[in-house]
This record gives sequence, structure tokens and C-alpha cells, in this order.
Amino acid sequence: MVSINRSQMRELQAKEEQRFVESRPKSNALFQRAKKSLLAGVPMNWMVRWAGPYPVFVSEARGAFLKDVDGNRYLDLCLGDTGSMFGHSPKPVVDAVRRQVSRGITTMLPTEDSIWVGEELARRFGLPYWQIAMTATDANRFSIRLAREVTKRKYVLVVHGCYHGTVDETLVNLEGGAVVPRGGNIGPPVPPSTTTKAVQFNDVRALEEALSPEDVACVLMEPAMTNRGIILPDPGYHDALRELTSRAGTLLIIDETHTICCGVGGYTGVQGLKPDMITMGKPLASGVPVAAFGVSQYVSDMIVERILSDGTDESGLGGTLTGNAFAVAAMRATLEKVITKQAFNRMMPLAERFEKGVDDVIKSRGVPWHVARLGVRIEYHFCQNAPRDGAEADMAKDAELEKLLHLMMLNRGILMTPFHNMALISPSTTAKDVDRHTAVFAECVDTLLS
Ligand SMILES: Cc1ncc(COP(=O)(O)O)c(C=O)c1O
Repeated sequence: MVSINRSQMRELQAKEEQRFVESRPKSNALFQRAKKSLLAGVPMNWMVRWAGPYPVFVSEARGAFLKDVDGNRYLDLCLGDTGSMFGHSPKPVVDAVRRQVSRGITTMLPTEDSIWVGEELARRFGLPYWQIAMTATDANRFSIRLAREVTKRKYVLVVHGCYHGTVDETLVNLEGGAVVPRGGNIGPPVPPSTTTKAVQFNDVRALEEALSPEDVACVLMEPAMTNRGIILPDPGYHDALRELTSRAGTLLIIDETHTICCGVGGYTGVQGLKPDMITMGKPLASGVPVAAFGVSQYVSDMIVERILSDGTDESGLGGTLTGNAFAVAAMRATLEKVITKQAFNRMMPLAERFEKGVDDVIKSRGVPWHVARLGVRIEYHFCQNAPRDGAEADMAKDAELEKLLHLMMLNRGILMTPFHNMALISPSTTAKDVDRHTAVFAECVDTLLS
């Protein structure tokens, strides 16, 4: 095995930053201006966390490509971190929102599109009743509330290394057996050990132990982890998870926000999981802020009377703009014409091609890395063997190398997802695009090794 030449990394970083600045003067000028009115110079703080000394300002995004204000063009493998994973501005959605926008955007009354959406989500994911939310964070918060209401218990159980949005109960780490606030968490309202239990993914014994006092309202979990790189469940893990949660009277919430990359019904649809609730958001309306959560017959029976009672606008569920006509029109068009089996049939072989390309580079250069794939989502880890849980993934983290690699790729016209080495294949991505990524990845690895 060879290793990266670390002594030259600082020099390489400086060289790449200079290249970045030289080809992005307009983005630089916009950022200087933005800093005077926007906190941290961006409308949302993650936007300063890309590789490069300042963010690239976008002029337009279409299909699998975007263009910045300086005229640079990028193959977009981040795709809004899943929000636009089925391509930027797909035509059926553009047409649907154009139609709807002139016929009323929000009324706090339902439109027929919402029924179509509910029926389709039930068909794809197997849960009978659905509610709309604005973001996946929202969907998770609402589901946790419902679980507490149904079970009259307070604890939420998550896995170390999870991400379910800005949900207070989930912004935790498991350190030396203790649940602690995640590093960098701004303003945790209470010590998270008072609300949350955490275990490592794939650790059935720890799960059993945590559930056995029968004080956990819900387990909230991605069916395969995606936010510390891709971490797949061990064979039998989901059977154990279902069996243990049922036995403990704990509701099982599966977060499909990222794992929709597995197929039209997410990981749940492909593997036939039987959760009590499902949450998801991001690409459901091609980037228009919409999310959804589904519940079982049992959860519905337990909750529906409460939802209909007086004072529901103060229940902690829903929001004024949620489920409005504009949002559900975008959602219907996305589900009907964009997130389709045909799209997956096209994307899947390209994702396999991407994985093989990266694997060939890793093996031929002998770097101690590996590549993982979950449906049309691919990720490379800076470790030789696939991590089994968040703790192992933490050990493989190399922030300095990741930042440099992302910057090198960005300077060569390829956008990887910030925070990790993740790439998404969209229906607009082509074999030529995939091969271009492979070539750039190979060039970057060779430079890092030289
Ligand atoms: C699995 C998962 N669930 C929920 C969310 C929250 O999504 P949003 O930020 O759109 O609310 C994320 C965000 O990355 C996520 O990865």
C-alpha cells in the first residue's frame, strides 16, 4: 500500500486556492458584498463550508450541470446534497409549478394533488397514511412528537454518526458510553442524555440493552447510514431492529431522505421493511421545500382523534405554508414523472460504472481507500475496509485531505458533496460524465501521491 505525500499537501492547497481565486473573480466580489448583509456572507451557513476560500455563486443549474457567475461549468455530483438528485429543474416540474403558480400558491386548504401524492406514497412505501411537511427536519420532528404522544415515553434512540436534520434530540454523539452534544452543536436546549439514547449502528446487543427498560418512544434511523459515508446494515440487522422495537413497544421510524437513492420506494421499498413511520424530504418535489411522513394504521388510530381536537394549531405539528397547492403540485409532478422506475433503470448502471471506475483507480494506485455504493449514491472513504458504524467512520475521517481533494476536483469542474466524498448519479448524468469524474479522480490521486 502507498500513502499520500502529506509533506506537499500544504503547498498543493495554496496552489489550488490560487487557481480557484484566479478563475472566480465575480464570485469573490459577490462574497465581499454579501458579507455586509448576510451572516457569514451566505443565506445559509453550510454554503461557506465548501472547498475554496469563498463560495462559488451560481448563475444557473440544469440537469447534472451548473454554471457559476464567472462562467465556469461543473458536473454536479452533489446535486444539492440530494435535494436535486433527480436533476436540476426537471421539465415536468417546471411545467407543473408554472401552471400552479398563477392559480394560487397557498390557501391553507387542500388541493386534489395532495390526494394523488398520498396515494402514491402509500403505494411506494407501504404505509397507509401520510402528512406533508416542509423539510425532512420537520418530518422527523413531527414524527418524534407523534411517537412520544402515542407511547407516552420520552426517549428517542439514534445511532452515533446519524444526521436527521436540525432536530435537537438527534444532534448527539456517543462518547465513552455517554450521550453528549455533538461537537459544534449551537445552543443545545437541554443535556441530550435527558432526551436521547444512542448506540452504534449494527450493534444489536447495545440496541437490545437500550430498549429493554421500555422507556424509548421511538428509534429514528436511516436504513443504511449515509451521513458518515455509506455504512450498510449487516445481514439480519433490520430483522433484529424490527423485532426488538416491537418487543419493547418502541415505534420504529425509518428516515428515507437519502436512501431514496435505492429505488422509487427507497430502501424500504427494495428490502420490504415494515417500519411504523417513514420520513423523507429533499428531492420529493425536485428541490421545492417539501417533505412527508407516513404512519401505520396503528399510529393513525392512536393519533387521529388528537389531531382533530381543538387547539391543533398549537400542537407542534404542521405549519402555515405546509402542504400548499404549489408544493404538492411540484411533488406530484416529481413523483409522477421524475422519480420513476425508468429513471432508476438508467441511473443504476451508471452508478455501478462510477463505483468500478473509482475502485480501479484505488486498486491500481494502491491507496488504502475504498469505495461504497448504495443504489445511485457512491462514496469513497479514506480507509481500506468499509466502516461498520459511525465510530469506525470517524476514524477514517481526514478533513485536510478531503478539503484538498474537493478543491482539486472543483478546480477541474467536478462538484463533490461537501462534508464527505459523496457523489450522486442523476437521470441526466451520462456515461461520459462518469468517465470524466474517474479521469479527474485518477489525476488528483496521482498528484497527491507524487
Ligand atoms: C437522513 C437525513 N434526514 C433528514 C435530513 C434533514 O434534511 P433537511 O435539512 O432538508 O431538513 C438530512 C439532511 O441532510 C438527512 O441527511
